[in-house]
Amino acid sequence: MEQPDDLTDFVRHLPKAELHLHIEGSLEPEMVFAKAAKHGIRLPYASVAALRAAYNFHNLQSFLDIYYAGVDVLCDEDDFRDLTLAYLERAHANGVVHTELFFDPQSHTARGISFDTVMKGLLAGLREGEQKFGITSQLILCFLRHLDAADAMHTLQAALPWKQHIIAVGLDSSEAGHPPSKFAEVFAAARGEGFLTVAHAGEEGPPAYIVEALDLLKVVRIDHGVRAEEDPALCARLARERIPLTVCPLSNVKLAVFKQLADHNLGRLMHAGLCITLNSDDPAYFGGYIGDNYVATARALNLSRTDLIQLARNSIDASFMAENAKAKWLQQLDGMAT
Ligand code: HPA
Ligand code: ZN
Repeated sequence: MEQPDDLTDFVRHLPKAELHLHIEGSLEPEMVFAKAAKHGIRLPYASVAALRAAYNFHNLQSFLDIYYAGVDVLCDEDDFRDLTLAYLERAHANGVVHTELFFDPQSHTARGISFDTVMKGLLAGLREGEQKFGITSQLILCFLRHLDAADAMHTLQAALPWKQHIIAVGLDSSEAGHPPSKFAEVFAAARGEGFLTVAHAGEEGPPAYIVEALDLLKVVRIDHGVRAEEDPALCARLARERIPLTVCPLSNVKLAVFKQLADHNLGRLMHAGLCITLNSDDPAYFGGYIGDNYVATARALNLSRTDLIQLARNSIDASFMAENAKAKWLQQLDGMAT
């Protein structure tokens, strides 16, 4: 039997990229309270512990309701900078060398916070984090799929002056009833402006949403995608076309996509030849950062160290890093092979 600390240590030393992380989902309850106090915002919770105790979700929507309420305390550039830097500090402690952060501008602009405020704060945090921790990064703008396509198009327009700082656009929020096809036009416009595209699909929604994301939105990665397993032809396509899935096991259990971690299909998908990456999604809400996801999943699914190295390799491969940076990290991972 492997000693728990050995595994944690091994995981920490794997250079890895985090490709599915909502920066607003890294907002810890302590920061919610600190920012609420700073801005004179009254919270409907008596304490940090009471807020944390409310993190009891039964599906995606029950989480999103509390997640959107949380972001209300983020008001100025410093708030976005502090949030980003706090995440990067945790990521660094988890062996993350590169991260591609999702952000949800519509959850801020709807409250009167300007797109520019959000961008300036995020970029300040990312710059400082790179200096302090050496973590490289990219930003992915996510459209909220429960809002209409016109709102997304308007957000795309607001993003254009910041184009050189945003590598891709994505799609998140309530999946069921909001298929990728709803955003085909917006994504076409985004691609026309040079953005790469990704989308959450097949978390709660059916495999057909994954197919739509590929065919209509021309995504280069699928976020979650675990329900692909219900469609063998789709799985074969994802493997053949090397479309990475950014899988988030602790999130999937917290949101009842799988009953328990031992039931998760990550190992099966990986061994079926799909490019699977492992990520934390909204770590402040789901009980763990990326290292916790690796360790808990390895234990629940009996993954070998070779499997864990493969997951780290996949994260580098599937990232939007330059080829020479990828080669550097892959070479380091080669040296860790057991
Ligand atoms: N799914 C959909 N939308 C989200 C998520 C997620 O896991 N996290 C934050 N927004
Ligand atoms: Zn997500």
